[in-house]
Amino acid sequence: MVNVAILGYGVVGSGVAEVIKKNSESISQRAGTDIKVKWILDIRDFPDSPDKDVLTKNADDVFNDNEVSIIVETIGGAKIAHEFTKRALMAGKSVVTSNKELVATHGPELLQLAKENGVSYLFEASVGGGIPIIRPLNQCLAANEINGITGILNGTTNYILTQMKREGKSFEAALKEAQQNGYAEQNPTADVEGHDACRKIAILSSIAYNEFVDCENIYTEGITKITVDDMKYADAIGGVIKLIAVSKKANGKIFARVSPAIVLNEHPLANVEDVFNAIVVNGDAVGDAMFYGRGAGKLPTASAVVADVIDIAKHPGSGTASVWERTQQNNILPIEDSTTKFLVRVTAKNKEDAKKDILSIFGEIQLVELHSKVKDNEFAFISCKNTESEFKTKLDKLESASDITVLNRIRIEE
Ligand code: HSE
Repeated sequence: MVNVAILGYGVVGSGVAEVIKKNSESISQRAGTDIKVKWILDIRDFPDSPDKDVLTKNADDVFNDNEVSIIVETIGGAKIAHEFTKRALMAGKSVVTSNKELVATHGPELLQLAKENGVSYLFEASVGGGIPIIRPLNQCLAANEINGITGILNGTTNYILTQMKREGKSFEAALKEAQQNGYAEQNPTADVEGHDACRKIAILSSIAYNEFVDCENIYTEGITKITVDDMKYADAIGGVIKLIAVSKKANGKIFARVSPAIVLNEHPLANVEDVFNAIVVNGDAVGDAMFYGRGAGKLPTASAVVADVIDIAKHPGSGTASVWERTQQNNILPIEDSTTKFLVRVTAKNKEDAKKDILSIFGEIQLVELHSKVKDNEFAFISCKNTESEFKTKLDKLESASDITVLNRIRIEE
């Protein structure tokens, strides 16, 4: 029998208790032993909970219980969850988590601590919700040099963008639904400003490139400035706007970025809708491999957490093999040096003059006009590939040298 304690009885924590109970028979068979939730720690009251017999508000109940060998941390955040994770690992208990903020921020130290104490620190649920991606990267694709990763890594923003495009819903209404469905973070700023996707690409990149990638160094832009009009222009060029997280090896450094981007309809990520996430991994031997599934929500995330619990129960004492080294210097290529194509939406008093100005500053461009013109003096153009710093210089020049107002600029993912 393996005894588990769950820290945090929120959406994911309660889902973990539910899955362990519901699938107890098949889980026992797969783990080769029974798995029981002995404690659930939460400071809140849950008088009607089906798990009230094992709920406690006293952390000592969990940490002083020698029968508990696996701690599931589903508190979230990097404060109390960090303290509890260190305490558990130092007490010789393995920890399983869905907490991407903690893994992305303190992963190197926590993996080291797990290794020193001969226990495991597993976090399959921290990226892509129910999609298996951490274990495939660590194990199934281990023979490859990973060239790059491109993904839709946040369910909330993908849900919002899909609802705005398909149903014409407002950003606020779609966000509210994502919150009601249990997809969004407690503070949804982390979702809509791209920080959640940033932490996830940092985790995947750290595994893929065998060195710690600090999310603080990754350029991150959210979806709050994306409008339905932007989506119409994306549609006009045969694409769709997604929050894209990307990382690649580039000249001895790592290029990583999170931002809204237009993906053309032929791109494998273009049809990934609603709460679904997808990750395309390019390895030198395998080529492209794509992983797809529900990226957020109670049971999909619990599915990944419980899989880690089963793994530890099945291989007790196997511990943590690989740790992440922090590099001395920033290993991320500055965003200014990366090359990108942009769709630029503009408005101008005199369109013909504006087009001449754009041509003279940007050189080769492609004009984009909507067939159903919403506003007469509005149009868009696609820049050719420039470094981001060249592009910014040209755009600043355009705005100061003409009567053009830039309404938005959106990267085009290739
Ligand atoms: N808020 C996250 C998302 C939850 O929407 O993807 C899963 O990590």
